[in-house]
Amino acid sequence: MAFKVMGVCGGRRDGNSEILTKEALLACQELGAEITYVNLNDYKILDCTGCTHCTQGMFMKGENVGCVLKNADDKDKLMQAMFENDAFIFAAPTYDLQVSANFTRFMQRSLAYETAFLEKIGAIKPKHRIAGLITTGGSTRAWMSMSLENMQAAMFTCDFNVIDMILATRVPAKGHVLTRPELIERAHKMGENIMRSLSKDPKDRGWEGDPDFGWCPHCHSNSLSLGEPQWDGTYYKVECQVCGCGGVLKEEDGKWKFVIDPENGHLKDRTTVAGRGLHLDEIGTTEGGFYRDPHNFEIVKEKMPRYKEMKYKTV
Ligand SMILES: Cc1cc2nc3c(=O)[nH]c(=O)nc-3n(C[C@H](O)[C@H](O)[C@H](O)COP(=O)(O)O)c2cc1C
Repeated sequence: MAFKVMGVCGGRRDGNSEILTKEALLACQELGAEITYVNLNDYKILDCTGCTHCTQGMFMKGENVGCVLKNADDKDKLMQAMFENDAFIFAAPTYDLQVSANFTRFMQRSLAYETAFLEKIGAIKPKHRIAGLITTGGSTRAWMSMSLENMQAAMFTCDFNVIDMILATRVPAKGHVLTRPELIERAHKMGENIMRSLSKDPKDRGWEGDPDFGWCPHCHSNSLSLGEPQWDGTYYKVECQVCGCGGVLKEEDGKWKFVIDPENGHLKDRTTVAGRGLHLDEIGTTEGGFYRDPHNFEIVKEKMPRYKEMKYKTV
C-alpha cells in the first residue's frame, strides 16, 4: 500500500509556503505516495478555549471525551484526515519572528487529539508519523529567529517526528520563491527525504536534513537558554528550548558547540513520549497538587471577589 503524505500550509494562497509545500509533495508523489493538501486559510479554526475538558477526560476518566469545539469548526475533520497519513509537510510564513498565528492556532487545538493517549485506548491506529517543516520569511534567520522552533514545539502533542526543516529566507513577495531555484530544489529534496525516511523501519528513522542545521545536535533547533532549576530539581547549565535536552556549551575550533550531558541530558527529551511523560508527572504534582489540597479552594474563594469586582473601562 502506498504511503500517504499530507501537506498542511498556513501561508497565502499561491504564496511562498504553498509553492514550497507543493514542490515537496510533488517529489513524494513521484516516488509513489498518495497526496492530500490543505491550506489552513480555507478552513475555520477556532482558538483553544483553555477549558481542559479534553485533558480532564483523559486523566480523570481515562476517556476520549473530545474537544468542546468539535462541531463548531473544521479541526476535527482535518485531524481525522491527518490520522490516516504517514508523513506531513507543514509550512507557514514568519510573522514577527514567529510562525503565523493560523498555524499555531490550528496546532494548539491538538490537545484533544493527543496521539499517545488515543492510541493507548484504541481510538486511532498506532502509527509512526514523520514531518518536514518549512517556514518562509522576508529576512534572514535574524528576523525568523523563532519560526521553525515554534513549529517544532507544535509537533509534540501528536508525536510528529521531525526529520527535515527548511528556513526559506529573503522571500518577502508573493511568488518570490519562484525566482530562487535553489529553494525549489531544496523543497523537492525534502519530499525525497520524507520518502527515504518512510522506507526505513520506524526505529531507524532519524534526521535527514542538512547535517549541520541548527545548534542542538538532537532536535536541530537553533535556540538555547540558560538553565534554571526545574520543579523536580533537575538542573542543566544550558537547555535546548525546543527538545529540553540539557548540557553545556564548549568551544571547539573557534565555534560554540552545545554538548548534551551523556548521562542525563536526554531525560526531559520532549520529542519522546517518555520525556513528555515526565512533564505529565509535573502537571500531576503542580496542578494535581493544587486540586488535592482543599485549602487552595478556600484561598481562591476568599481572594477572587476582589479581582472579579475590579472593573476598568473597556473598549
Ligand atoms: C504581518 C507580517 C509580519 C511579517 N514578519 C516577518 C518577520 O518577522 N520576519 C520575516 O522574515 N518576514 C516577515 N514577514 C514576511 C513574510 O514572512 C514573507 O512575506 C513570507 O514569504 C510570506 O509567506 P507566504 O507567501 O507563504 O504567505 C511578515 C509578513 C507579514 C504579513
